[in-house]
Amino acid sequence: MLEPRYHIAPQLLGSGDTQIDSSGVIMVDADLRKIHRVEQIQLVLQELSCIREKLFVVHNQVRSMVAQAYALGATAVVSRPKEIIFKLAQIEIAEKAAQSDFAITSPEITESTAAFASMFSAVRASKQINLSDAERATLQIIDSISQKGLAAWLDDVRRYHEGTFQHCLLVTGVAVGFALEIGFSDLDVKRLGIAATLHDIGKAHIPLLILDKPDRLDPGEEEIMRSHPVIGYELLKNIEDITPEILDGVRHHHEYLDGSGYPDALTAPEISDLVRLLTISDIFAALIESRPYRPAMPRQNAYKILCGMEGKLERPLVKAFRNVALVV
Ligand SMILES: [Fe+2]
Ligand SMILES: [Fe+2]
Repeated sequence: MLEPRYHIAPQLLGSGDTQIDSSGVIMVDADLRKIHRVEQIQLVLQELSCIREKLFVVHNQVRSMVAQAYALGATAVVSRPKEIIFKLAQIEIAEKAAQSDFAITSPEITESTAAFASMFSAVRASKQINLSDAERATLQIIDSISQKGLAAWLDDVRRYHEGTFQHCLLVTGVAVGFALEIGFSDLDVKRLGIAATLHDIGKAHIPLLILDKPDRLDPGEEEIMRSHPVIGYELLKNIEDITPEILDGVRHHHEYLDGSGYPDALTAPEISDLVRLLTISDIFAALIESRPYRPAMPRQNAYKILCGMEGKLERPLVKAFRNVALVV
């Protein structure tokens, strides 16, 4: 499945053959509930301690195996099979960016990234988006932020994720943190979270060359980029169980109160509260993203930029957002 894109050097545990290249990624696919397997893996990993990335394949995210994988030094844990390719692609990108921090990705990030990967690949394969993916990602993010706080989520996501997935994970995290700060009901936290999870789904149809372009977009590219809210709306509008608020959030998260936004140039009375929250979360998350070609902007600076967007964002909401933006 992985070849020819990747060069694979398989090794059978217990064979005594450890002719493994010292670069690349170790992928461990074994039943970690079996103690003798764990001991064999430990020995192999000791010999290969120079390899930083250790990707563990855990069947259906069995909790005890996930914990065991991290105990063995996993840098990422995935379920089989499609997540493996996705995760390896991410590692490739991260290596290009020469990131050197050693730490582990939380199960909530793994799970929500898998849900995003599933949604984006459904769109790219012209299949219908599964709303339960959006719900799954949102619930994982709500869980993580309720337990460990927003600051930890932002740091972890920025350390491990690139591009559009990073953006979606950040926006949803910020929106959920915002909703919790304002004291939304559980239902409303989830509603805003799902709208945030899906807000940029239209980017699945925008070429990567435009999405990941480090330089300023030219006018033609800008126009293509600006089509993503309408694409997202069109992708979702006929899905059973989609709610009007989610469609509103997806289509209108780039609208401003003064009418200068897109795609419909709405003005204040036409912009719902949910969209106002989502827009603030989206702009903030975009500012603090970490990209291979530029360092992440400190959150204080990003908040200052929001405060300067006079007339475009609702001032009392931006004020309330202070505690979210500067959370420690
Ligand atoms: Fe967007
Ligand atoms: Fe966005």
